[in-house]
Amino acid sequence: MGKNKLKRFAANEQSFNVIQEGKELYKTIKGQWNKLQFADNQPITVEIGCGNGEYSVGLAKQFSNKNFIGTDIKGARIFKGSTEAKELNLTNVAFLRCRIEYILEFFQKDEVDEIWITFPDPQLKESREKQRLTHPRFLDLYKQFLKKDGFIHLKTDSRELTDFTLEILKEYPHRELAYTFDLYSSDFLNDHQGIQTKYERIFLAEGKKINYIKFKI
Ligand SMILES: C[S@@+](CC[C@H](N)C(=O)[O-])C[C@H]1O[C@@H](n2cnc3c(N)ncnc32)[C@H](O)[C@@H]1O
Repeated sequence: MGKNKLKRFAANEQSFNVIQEGKELYKTIKGQWNKLQFADNQPITVEIGCGNGEYSVGLAKQFSNKNFIGTDIKGARIFKGSTEAKELNLTNVAFLRCRIEYILEFFQKDEVDEIWITFPDPQLKESREKQRLTHPRFLDLYKQFLKKDGFIHLKTDSRELTDFTLEILKEYPHRELAYTFDLYSSDFLNDHQGIQTKYERIFLAEGKKINYIKFKI
């Protein structure tokens, strides 16, 4: 493993805003984010597959009256969001290093007010369908900790993942579905809060359109 990665992992171990295996909060945080992690008891937004954490940090900057948690399996990426949040003195954002498959170990019923899924790997091979983060097996997980009135937002460059998600929602009980295949020529510009992630910038530079879906389950 590269020296840089090791340094980042070591920094994560010391960072108050990173929850990961080996730390006490990793085992006790479920149901207690607002008590044990955040200074203020506020509505919680979770970003799924946050990468460098642009959404979690960007939203935390804009909404000091809410708390934000970026989740990702990759520690070196979480390090970037964690570092930026510390540099900006943001106490309303934290990062959880975990696999999404185990997310119920960290959130209890109705603990979360909103979910963002930002540019997930579309898992285009048919054999990988169950890995798509809007597959019913994941929606079933989100449903167990997302408040009934909470939106799930998906931003993706992948028309295939968008179409797949819309197909799933034909069968999966949901409310208030709205979507666009071209965010930047749509009426949804206010919904995405003007934040662009690393992957979004790459896709935009390639001339791709950005798809955006929101719905409640
Ligand atoms: C394509 S990147 C997008 C990152 C970021 N949201 C962005 O837009 O720049 C997908 C991210 O999801 C994470 N990821 C993929 N599958 C995951 C899983 N099962 N559990 C946790 N994180 C996962 C990856 O580590 C990666 O950082």
